[in-house]
Amino acid sequence: MINSENGFFDCYGGKYVAEVLRKTLDELECAFNDAIKDENFLKELSIIQRDYIGRETPLLYAQKASELLGGAQIYIKLEGLANTGAHKINNAIGQCLLAKRMGKKRIIAETGAGQHGVATAAACAKLGLDCTVYMGEVDVRRQQPNVSSMEMYGARVHAVTSGSRTLKDAVNEAMRDWAANPDTTHYCLGSALGPAPFPDMVREFQSVIGKEVLHQAKERNLDIEALIACCGGGSNSIGFFAPFIGQQKPRLIAVEAGGIGPGIGENASRMTGTVARDGILQGYKSRFLLDDDGQALPTRSISAGLDYCGIGPQLAALGKTGRIEFTSALDAEALEAVKFFAKNEGVLFAMESAHAGAEAIKLAPKLSRNKAIIVNMSGRGDKDIFITCPVFRTEEWKQFLISELDRLNNSQDIHDAELM
Ligand SMILES: Cc1ncc(COP(=O)(O)O)c(C=O)c1O
Repeated sequence: MINSENGFFDCYGGKYVAEVLRKTLDELECAFNDAIKDENFLKELSIIQRDYIGRETPLLYAQKASELLGGAQIYIKLEGLANTGAHKINNAIGQCLLAKRMGKKRIIAETGAGQHGVATAAACAKLGLDCTVYMGEVDVRRQQPNVSSMEMYGARVHAVTSGSRTLKDAVNEAMRDWAANPDTTHYCLGSALGPAPFPDMVREFQSVIGKEVLHQAKERNLDIEALIACCGGGSNSIGFFAPFIGQQKPRLIAVEAGGIGPGIGENASRMTGTVARDGILQGYKSRFLLDDDGQALPTRSISAGLDYCGIGPQLAALGKTGRIEFTSALDAEALEAVKFFAKNEGVLFAMESAHAGAEAIKLAPKLSRNKAIIVNMSGRGDKDIFITCPVFRTEEWKQFLISELDRLNNSQDIHDAELM
């Protein structure tokens, strides 16, 4: 089950949208199916991937980490070295290029933590497209550094004030905008979910990760036991796993946010949690964290990118067949993994990716030394400094923020710049 059948992966997927969006989704599907068979489109995409995103990203042998853990050899796919700091740019560039080919000059996107918003804003700046990013008002307030980056790339950030004012409300608002402006606008959805054709399309644009790993591993003659990726909506994991799905090996392991524990509202475990169920939300059928009335339950994770109540339909289907194994890592385990790989490999994992790192730390010692496991570091941790520093250096961070506030209030340079 690599491509969907009519938008379905077994019982999951579909296009559960209002009539006005059906035609738009059908047109998008046709345009995408044409583009990925067109050598000119693929050539243009691969040049941008090379020169702008910085592909291919390295596959790093984590020698010291492997020796310390004393089992399988750990390799890290450094997606965090992609331009803008995470895998999200692979999909953003692919969809924006497709939109241009369709003659659409305006891009809209949803964002939660801001990574997909930043990637889309950057892609639009590069490709000369107008960009509006919908972001819940609550997220705008807690993710100011990413809002600033999006604006620097020339995007408008629209703060959404409906509902809980977070990611799912941003998706609803983006869908509304798209339904009102289908001729001029493309909705660049940020993960391998949503109505068809998004799950197929996002997987395809992210599969560049897995294709590179396939040949990088072959070059080094690795005997891969497992690929490990973190899983929010599922775009980095499905792109990483894509070329391996049709084979029986290696093991494909997706790691969800275990948050602070198994209780309702304490995690974002759609496949490993006890309260997940099948449902239809935001245009697709999948596994969700829902209450008895079918409303999204609150979720929790230290990593904003994994903190979502739904999962891509292909991941849900492959989880059901057992081809993808699901597990979870607690916030505390992810923080330990950040420290472990920073100290021993000089690599700073994003909090999301550190969930995969935490699973590698658990799994490696159980395997023999001639086996390899590959961890997808979907993003780098620079963006998380406002999360990790208050945990690792609480007092010093408080003092830093106080002095920054002081500097901001008093700095002549800033006042001078405001006057210009
Ligand atoms: C660095 C990073 N990794 C992973 C994710 C999770 O998304 P997905 O499961 O779609 O890869 C995000 C989402 O923002 C992210 O920023």
